Amino acid sequence: MIDKIKQRYNHTWIKQEENCLKLRSKLRRKCNGFDTAIVTQENTPIGSRLVYDADWKKNLRVTPKIFHVFTKENPFVGKKLRTCALVGNGGILTDSKCGKSIDSAEFVLRCNLPPLKSDYQEHVGIKTDIVTANPSILLRKYESLMNRRRPFVESLQSYGNALLVFPAFSYSFNTEVSLRAAYTIEDSDSPAQPVFFNPGYLRNLSIFWRSEGLKPRRLSTGFIMTSLALEICDHVELYGFWPFSNHPYELYPLSNHYYDDMKVSPMHAMPAEFNVLLKLHSEGVLKLHLGNC
Ligand code: CDP
Repeated sequence: MIDKIKQRYNHTWIKQEENCLKLRSKLRRKCNGFDTAIVTQENTPIGSRLVYDADWKKNLRVTPKIFHVFTKENPFVGKKLRTCALVGNGGILTDSKCGKSIDSAEFVLRCNLPPLKSDYQEHVGIKTDIVTANPSILLRKYESLMNRRRPFVESLQSYGNALLVFPAFSYSFNTEVSLRAAYTIEDSDSPAQPVFFNPGYLRNLSIFWRSEGLKPRRLSTGFIMTSLALEICDHVELYGFWPFSNHPYELYPLSNHYYDDMKVSPMHAMPAEFNVLLKLHSEGVLKLHLGNC
């Protein structure tokens, strides 16, 4: 299987501007992540309803209290994002020495509050402009922020003033803990900027990729971020995407993440997503990095 992947991967990569524009305009038309990926006071007024994308029978009416936690404007307006590095959390990054290459991008996107400091930085970099924050991490590592909150705030230091994106409106049980995280950040001196994924955008993405033949129960965070990056960035390079258990070149066993070996959720179909990423790489739409830098 790895040989087959490498055959599809191993040719000189050339950016195909026309293919990039074609996919970007399709994504803009069907999902419009540029304007809608993040809940803002502009796109989600008081009184509107947020329908949970993973819990579609449930919805939340936007009260003035919730509305005031939303960021005012579209965070992507006025930014010319020429080069973006999107970092998945795959074990393939261990010892990859890709840190410098990742940090050289103008804009860096990461998934699920990954550790960056000390031994990791050389391999995964440190620069962060957007990082997603899955509420399950808050539950696992910070007791859902029901007790002391300082360890959580301190853990955010690595991400500077990045946008922290919480999928607060995917499952109803994620809302309270995500809001608690946003209040905690606002009440601290952390420069991080908490924002929320728009469930309407996540639903449209899922419908779009279904129509393209990709049908997991839930798109993975990395795949959601790839779709967003393809809309907001001119040039997208991916690191840390390799949902297989052996290294592509040295073939030694890999852990699932570069920082732990937690198993993949059965909701995801990462090999099927990887197949799409490999196709986009071959079509010159994005550049996938496999192996060391
Ligand atoms: O929350 P989720 O399980 O989607 O993500 P994660 O395990 O924190 O990893 C972030 C992203 O990196 C995933 O969503 C995948 O897209 C990608 N990944 C990968 O391609 N190969 C791996 N072995 C692990 C993660």
